[in-house]
Order: sequence, then C-alpha cells, then structure tokens
Amino acid sequence: MPRTSNPRARTRPRARGIASRRQGQERSQSKGSEMAAAARGIGVAAALAVLAALAPAARGVDRAEFPPEFLFGAATSAYQIEGAYLEDGKGLCNWDVFTHTRPGAIRDGRNGDVADDHYHLYMGDLEILQSLGVNAYRFSIAWARILPRGRLGGVNADGVAFYNRLIDTLLQKGIQPFVTLNHFDMPRELEARYVGWLGAGIREEYAYFADVCFAAFGDRVKLWTTFNEPNLVTKFQYMLGGYPPDHCSPPFGNCNGGGNSLREPYVAAHNIIMSHAAAVRAYRDRYQAQQGGAVGIVVAMKWYEPLTNATEDVAAARRAQAFETEWFLDPIMLGGDYPRAMRELLGSNLPTFTPEEQELLRHGRADFIGLNHYTAVYAKDCIASPCDLGTYEGNALVLAVGERDGVKIGGDTALNGFYVVPEALEPAIMYINARYKDTPVYITENGFSQWSDTSREELINDMERVNYLQGYITYLARAIRNGANVRGYFVWTLLDNFEWTFGYSMRYGLYHVDFDTQERTPRKSARWYQGFLTGDGSPTDQDEAPQALRADS
Ligand code: BGC
Repeated sequence: MPRTSNPRARTRPRARGIASRRQGQERSQSKGSEMAAAARGIGVAAALAVLAALAPAARGVDRAEFPPEFLFGAATSAYQIEGAYLEDGKGLCNWDVFTHTRPGAIRDGRNGDVADDHYHLYMGDLEILQSLGVNAYRFSIAWARILPRGRLGGVNADGVAFYNRLIDTLLQKGIQPFVTLNHFDMPRELEARYVGWLGAGIREEYAYFADVCFAAFGDRVKLWTTFNEPNLVTKFQYMLGGYPPDHCSPPFGNCNGGGNSLREPYVAAHNIIMSHAAAVRAYRDRYQAQQGGAVGIVVAMKWYEPLTNATEDVAAARRAQAFETEWFLDPIMLGGDYPRAMRELLGSNLPTFTPEEQELLRHGRADFIGLNHYTAVYAKDCIASPCDLGTYEGNALVLAVGERDGVKIGGDTALNGFYVVPEALEPAIMYINARYKDTPVYITENGFSQWSDTSREELINDMERVNYLQGYITYLARAIRNGANVRGYFVWTLLDNFEWTFGYSMRYGLYHVDFDTQERTPRKSARWYQGFLTGDGSPTDQDEAPQALRADS
C-alpha cells in the first residue's frame, strides 16, 4: 500500500492567507446548509435561506445555549499521556513493545514511556482541567496497569490506587469522570496469546477486566464506555496496518506481521462486539442497579457527503457510513446483525452471529453512543469506476476525497484527509439519533491538529483551533435546537500527547506541552474554551501572552 493512502499519513501544512480562509468558511457554511437539509429532507434553497438568517459560524456561541446539566469536558487516553510505563507493578502493553521493537513505525521514533508523565503530574493536570471550567473529564484505564498479565495474574493494587486517586480528585473538584475501558491498549501478554482481538479467548479476558473496573470504581464512576473507536483501530491493526499487531495484506499493504486484510478486521471486530456485550451484561447483572450508572461505546464517525449527485456516489456515501459506524452500532444497538451493505460486499469474510451471541447482544445494547467526530469528506463510488482501494474506505469500495470541482470541503488540518467542516456535526448526530431510536449521544472527541515543527508563536496562538472549536460547538448548539438528543461534548485533547504513529510530531492539546521539561502552557484555545465555559471573556480580550506553568506547580 502506498503510505500516502493512509488517512493518517503526513501532509505538509500549506500556507493559506486570510482571504482563502474566509472563502473556506463561506464554502463551509453553504455546504453545511446542504448537509443539514439533506439530513432533514428539506429543500436546499429553503435551508439556505434559514441558515443565512442565522449565520451560525460567524456569530459565536454561548454556554447558555446548552442545558446546565450538559457535559463539557476534555478527553485523554492512558497510553498517550500517563508514561510510568514500568512503574508500580504495571505490565507491558502492546504499544510499549511495539514502540520499542519497531521505532521506525513511529514518525519520530519515540514512545509513550514518559509521554506527559501524567502518572506523576496528574494533580497539576487536574488543576489545569478544573481551571477550564469543565464539568466532565474523559480518560481511559490502562488495562496492563490493572491486570499486568490479564485474567490469570493478580489485580495490581497500585494501579487501582492510581485511578482511585484520579477519580477522587476529580469528584472533589466537581468534575464527573467519564471512563473508557479500552483505548487502543492491551497487556502485551494477551496480545501475544490471542494476536490481539483475533482469538475468541480475548472476550473473556476483556469481560474480566471490565468487571474488575466496575467493582473497583463503579461506586463513583457513572459514565462508562467499553471501547474507544473499535471501528478505526481494527482497521489500523488488521487492514491497513500501522498499529500493533500490524497485520495487513494487499491491496491494503504488506505488513511485517503478515495478516489478511480481507478477513481479520471483521474477526477482530466480531470479538470486540462480543466483548462489549459481555461487559455490558456484567454491568447490568451485577452493578447497574446499585451503582446507577450507564455504559456506552464510542465509535469514530466521519460524515460522508456524496461527491456528485450521481446515484452511485449517493450510494457510496451511504455505504461508507455503513462500513464506518453501523459496522459496530447495528449489531450492538439494533441487535443481531451487521448492515446489509457489509454482508453484500464482504460475503463469508464477515462473521455471522450465532444464536447464543445474538442472545448476549440483546443484553448488550449500549445506554448511549459516543461519537468521535473530526471531519467530513466526499465519498466517490468505486464499484462503477476504478479507484485506489488500499485506503481507509477501500473495504467499502469507496474513495474519500477532499475536493469537489477544485473546491475543498473545508479548511485543512495537519492530518491528511481531515478538513474543518463544522456544519457536518449536525447531520452526523441527527443520523445517529434517527437510526438508533433517539439513543443519547455524547461527542466524545473533537479537535484540531497542528504540526510540532510549527513556530512556537503559531503553536500557542492557535486561532485555527479556536475557530475549529467555536465552529463545531456552534453547530452542536444548532443540533440541540433542532431536537438532537446529545448530552455532552469533549475536546480532544487536554494536553499535547503521544499521538500514536505520529509520536510527538502532531499536537491536539488545549495545553502545549514541552516534552523536555513537562511544562504546560495554555493555548489561546484553552483560554477560549475557558471563556466559553465560564463566561469570562474571549480570546480577543485576552491577548496577553499565555502563562506557562508546570503541571505540578
Ligand atoms: C483517537 C485518539 C487520537 C485522536 C487524534 C482518535 O482517533 O481516539 O486517541 O489521538 O483521534 O488522532
């Protein structure tokens, strides 16, 4: 596979003037009208007229447009920030071993051994978090810190103690913990034994881990999610390669670890779906009544717009969404089977659910759906016309493109193929609400990437990120006005971190992190978010240089 076909491949940022940025915004607004209209099934012209009157992205957004109980937070994940990779009884995880044995697979050759050193600096980090004015914090639990050797080893009391300290401190600060059980990491021993998610034995391992966490933390954690983006991670693990155990085969790539891109992603997904169902069942049977919490699942969700009005492209956009979100959400939320579009294209490579599995799935319905939404793209059909299929959407016989008639769908971000299209958030939520019978939605990630080799001035005065967040939150408010059942929003991310195969070369943080000194510096976006949440001003009246602080100061 040519590496450039990987949607996470690097593109050089292009210098763009204010004029072109403004044009981009105008384009985005009209595109948004079209999308919103499509989602509601009304005429584009009528929608344009309504939206022109509202001029949403330009107007800014107010916390008061959201219900008081609406959750606003920031999100992180364990491997990306904790460091302390061998401390206090933690076992090695898949990413520890992958980054050490295959440094060439990481853009800057680095690893998460120290990352943000959050394991030691968490107190300062939670101060920072609190200063933003959030009422929720999304973080994940490192499986190998709790169960260094999986189900057959003991529970690591020091690991449990760390998350107890984290949770207790959050609650003292009035911040609700929103906990992800699995965010791309697993004990290395289990990865070796089951080839990650390929062996069915991993289901029992995961269910045990979930049970240990519900028992240890569920008296205080009321919002759980079983998995982060299983729809994305299985593609990078078993279809495109790049994430451990790095399996793939042509046309998607030639991976060191071997693999079968036509079959393995679906086997891994099947095991993850059943692992989710087992964990939810444990929660329902043993914990939910006393603990009174809820359990959901988080999927990555791009919004796909047809490239043209041709029937083939309209079907391609539909099919791309089936292969993106419905792959996991249909079996989990509707009980029992994969979307028809997948069955038709994948045939026997797509596993079938046994009657016992279907029975378990009936108990595995999630209480809410988390959406990690960053971008929208155009979908081009690859059934009637040939394309490069070695891409993220290639298994759906779709090519994602960023331009139509030479005009980009939205502004650039550092991440190749990820554009700023805030107006797509509303149809995305509406689509999920409609398909899954009004199940509550949380936007569990949304954020803007910068390259680390950008000047410090640009890294800190991140007006592009401010505009990104303001735009997306504006359309979130619109979605709520239009009846969306959405309960919370989390910025990705609190701190610059180990950005998976990008290492430290890409940054998403509200806070800039100097990885040599562990100094945290609030970006303009942190100040904007704080102003939005607390009503204390906006970046325009906070133009003084941001103050640097150590996380433990
Ligand atoms: C993941 C995060 C990641 C972010 C930015 C999401 O796919 O959940 O772990 O850092 O995107 O790439």
